[in-house]
Amino acid sequence: VEERALDRDCMTLSRHVLQQLQSFGPDAQDLSAIMNRIALAGKLVSRHLSRSGLMENVLGFAGTTNIQGESVKKMDIYANDVFISVFKQSGLVCRLASEEMENPYYIPENCPIGRYTLLYDPIDGSSNLDANLNVGSIFAIRQQEGMDLDGEAKDLLQNGHKQIAAGYILYGPSTMLVYSIGRGVHAFTLDPSLGEFILSTENIQTPQHGSIYSVNEGNFWQWDEPMREYIRYVHRHEGYTARYGGALVGDFHRILFQGGVFLYPGTTKKPEGKLRLLYESAPLAFLMEHSGGRASTGTQDILDVVPEKLHQRTPLVIGSTEDVALVESFMQSS
Ligand code: AHG
Ligand code: MN
Ligand code: MN
Ligand code: MN
Repeated sequence: VEERALDRDCMTLSRHVLQQLQSFGPDAQDLSAIMNRIALAGKLVSRHLSRSGLMENVLGFAGTTNIQGESVKKMDIYANDVFISVFKQSGLVCRLASEEMENPYYIPENCPIGRYTLLYDPIDGSSNLDANLNVGSIFAIRQQEGMDLDGEAKDLLQNGHKQIAAGYILYGPSTMLVYSIGRGVHAFTLDPSLGEFILSTENIQTPQHGSIYSVNEGNFWQWDEPMREYIRYVHRHEGYTARYGGALVGDFHRILFQGGVFLYPGTTKKPEGKLRLLYESAPLAFLMEHSGGRASTGTQDILDVVPEKLHQRTPLVIGSTEDVALVESFMQSS
């Protein structure tokens, strides 16, 4: 038993990424190093969160409004800057696009052509922060195409199939990192005593159907008729249970493992939905498609959507194949 425990503790994130990438060629080393930096960012954010109630200037609002029109939390800014810091002197990532920054951040010394871009949501579920409930960080990695000399990052305005890796960190009872490079979806649990993310579930398979539906029913009055019809169907039929945590990463993680469906459809106030395509919906769609589930706008696969701007929002229906198909059958009947 001891030996098995030792083997388990040695399956760290960086070793797993290298194993996954054997036939990936020269990118293998880069991607493994990038994932290591992301893991460092996750550890720094996790540590900050675990002491948030005890330190000044961690919780609460920063007093600014971001490009999304949201009141920014101090933790949003801290986490945003952590991801930038871990990639300085890395020679790996030369451009970072974040929910919290109107324009991408460039690290010029890292910028020979053909390098990587990190797209990320530094703290997802900020409304949970002051209630000590789970939050997350979401990330996707893309190759920079061209020189982006005007700083418009137009090459990022391509569909989600351009992602070469995606994942998230869930700051919950344990801190977990879930990622995929397109060869299965794998979960790692942070062992704080080691300071390492250790493999806890390999090749996660999302059930074809699940009983959970996850949606903010407070928006019912703002939905179109097909979406209301779907919810009425769920209300009338046995076998469904509602779970909504107010933080996408936690709600997604539950469905990734247990099946079911998460929905954030368009509303009258936000016809395009609330969730952002490039650093929320597309990374999670990448994962769900590689764990046997699906991700749709309701009428189109998320991974096929081509954004016109960096912070574009999209409706999101994501989870078990059968449950996403049922929602689409209502939404396409309109
Ligand atoms: P963020 O905190 O990064 O701005 O994202 C919040 C998102 C997402 O985490 C969650 O699913 C959704 O907002 C909840 O929105 P409602 O409060 O409108 O349900
Ligand atoms: Mn936000
Ligand atoms: Mn978010
Ligand atoms: Mn956020």
